[in-house]
Amino acid sequence: MSNAADGPIFVATWDFGGQAVRAAWDAWQRSRGLEDACVEATAAIELDPAIPTVGIGGLPNREGVMELDAGFMRGSDLRCGSVAALRVTCPAITVARRVSQLPSHTFLVGQGVDQFAIAEGFERYDPDALLTDKTRDEFAQRQAKVARKQADAERMVGHDTVGVLGWHAGQTVACVATSGLGFKRPGRVGDSPIIGGGLYADDTAGCVVCTGIGEELARHAVAVRVLDAMKAGAPPNEAGGAVLRMMIDRDPANASRGLALIAIDKAGSVGAATTRSRNHEFEYHVCRAGGFERVDPDPVQ
Ligand code: GLY
Repeated sequence: MSNAADGPIFVATWDFGGQAVRAAWDAWQRSRGLEDACVEATAAIELDPAIPTVGIGGLPNREGVMELDAGFMRGSDLRCGSVAALRVTCPAITVARRVSQLPSHTFLVGQGVDQFAIAEGFERYDPDALLTDKTRDEFAQRQAKVARKQADAERMVGHDTVGVLGWHAGQTVACVATSGLGFKRPGRVGDSPIIGGGLYADDTAGCVVCTGIGEELARHAVAVRVLDAMKAGAPPNEAGGAVLRMMIDRDPANASRGLALIAIDKAGSVGAATTRSRNHEFEYHVCRAGGFERVDPDPVQ
């Protein structure tokens, strides 16, 4: 898919990606800022309590507490910021972007990121306010099943990460946010905030965001591998497909684990790659200068 328009391109993961790219386009029309647009789009998904895997109303850990992860990266100068296990505020992406503006730090976690967010004046939430009645109910049901030994306490529940990519005139931005795997151990962090694992942006090659089982995506440094393949000249679809196939060659179980990524190369070509998920099919959404499209990529073979 190549860029035919002069305007910006936004790409976002999953069904809620349609809402995300519309939010990005609205923000772009107001500010003409690529970063603002991508951050606002990611934040819009985090703040929507009806979206069950991200931000408010996301999936709590096995103690019933929401822990949010997010990452931000700008391709012009590789400025980046990540947060993990953030418990006191939302959207996490705005805190990640603020971290990226610090002179030295790039990654804050746990108590440190909670303290940072409060000191920086982000709205403080009662951690319980990040849960909805639905998530409380699901958590209670799960606890009851674990107590009756009808569910394995070690089995985490899948999730759909919001990833938003932006491109304009060769400039790139990558944003990602998630509540992580449901019923994870407190402090568990997946790929999302890991620069090179869950996201990467470098204007010399493009930008990438991943979604799926974070342990697999992080251990294979998927985002930076896809970026490197695009830098070597592969189109985004091919670059992403080659990396997922490499992961499947290494461990055939990856074929059905639910792994996906979206990418834009430095010229503005858009692509994606996905495995065949047992639960639901991956889709992504694209906005090119105000035109919107849903794409359902074929899983890698
Ligand atoms: N891909 C998000 C996570 O594993 O937490």
